[in-house]
Amino acid sequence: MISKKTEESIQKGSAIRAMFTEGKAMAERYGAENVYDYSLGNPAVPAPEKLKGVIADLVKETDPLELHGYMNNAGFPDVRETIAADLNRRFKTSYDWAHIVMTVGAAGGLNVALKTILDPGDEVIVFAPYFGEYKNYVANWDGALIEVAPDLLTFQPNLSVLKEKITPKTKAVIINTPNNPTGVVYSEETLTRLGEILTEAEKRVGHAICLLSDEPYRELVYDGAAQTFPAKNYKDTIVCYSFSKSLSLPGERIGYLAVSPEIEDGERLLEGLTQSNRVLGFVNAPSLMQKAVAQCLSEKTELAFYDHNRKCLLESLTLYGFTCVKPEGAFYLWMKVPGAPEEQTVSAEAEQAFVDRAKAERLLLVKGSAFGCTGYVRIAYCVSPEMIERSLPSFQALAKETCR
Ligand SMILES: Cc1ncc(COP(=O)(O)O)c(C=O)c1O
Repeated sequence: MISKKTEESIQKGSAIRAMFTEGKAMAERYGAENVYDYSLGNPAVPAPEKLKGVIADLVKETDPLELHGYMNNAGFPDVRETIAADLNRRFKTSYDWAHIVMTVGAAGGLNVALKTILDPGDEVIVFAPYFGEYKNYVANWDGALIEVAPDLLTFQPNLSVLKEKITPKTKAVIINTPNNPTGVVYSEETLTRLGEILTEAEKRVGHAICLLSDEPYRELVYDGAAQTFPAKNYKDTIVCYSFSKSLSLPGERIGYLAVSPEIEDGERLLEGLTQSNRVLGFVNAPSLMQKAVAQCLSEKTELAFYDHNRKCLLESLTLYGFTCVKPEGAFYLWMKVPGAPEEQTVSAEAEQAFVDRAKAERLLLVKGSAFGCTGYVRIAYCVSPEMIERSLPSFQALAKETCR
């Protein structure tokens, strides 16, 4: 019954989801408190308290035919207006309501954007390590995913390699800052240079190259760092935003696309995005959630909660002998699999052996290969601080076995 393409996709599976399922099975076997599941980016901080009241008031006071009914496929105009105004205030941009398309999370938004711009065979460039689902999203529209190898010293996007990878088939470049899986925040210098390279490349290839800026972690930055907004450095940008992490609403599936006002062929593009939202079967983003998030744009998640976890893990794991990239944002720690000198990495087999050893200590870590960067593991620290405390002896035992 099922297609070859879906069969292939099932075979490839998702390392993260597989870990998550394995974690559940291990929890039954050993008891939930004895399994340390760092696999999934599922926030342990609840949604802001205000949201409950907002939802209750919306249900009580709004005409149900409006609140639960169909609307424009791009979303409620008043919600889009509120989001545009909020972006303009925070980032000195000039969006209006028509530039915002409400989506079913960032995953929905990325698929809507890719469907709208890709013809089969078109190339989409990503910087390793990257969110592994990009591979599936690009494959959905028969695009070709082109990887740029990582800069293992900084984990900033490798821009000199980017230049070489751009061809007349390049339709889009995806970036993600703060980054999943490294926790790195792309510097202003990187973003400025990226904008210059893409502007130059558009002239060379003779068509627009769309920058898809995937920003579910935009507000999760530490040490008082400023939030960046890559769209300011390049006019042909579509921002893919999600409330999954910033308001801890991953199950509600709500986000938006923000299309730069000066983008090439903007009106037609917005028509296309709206059309794609419809024909993909999303039809529109969840109506109640659209109205609810519009009233919670100034709400903040508990950054201090994640920051505590970040510091505790970074300090402890470094002390035990592991090498980690200091996270500047998001809620992931990127740790090197021991056994290779600086600027080199262990093989895929050694990486898998390390993940298996971690599992024997009941630590669930996701292998770097799942993000296109072998020789590392990702530790999602959006978990309870108590779990982190309980897991430290296991990390220590793992270090004793593997760090020499
Ligand atoms: C980088 C990145 N992009 C997109 C998504 C998808 O988020 P959403 O829940 O909004 O679909 C995630 C989720 O973890 C992510 O980490």
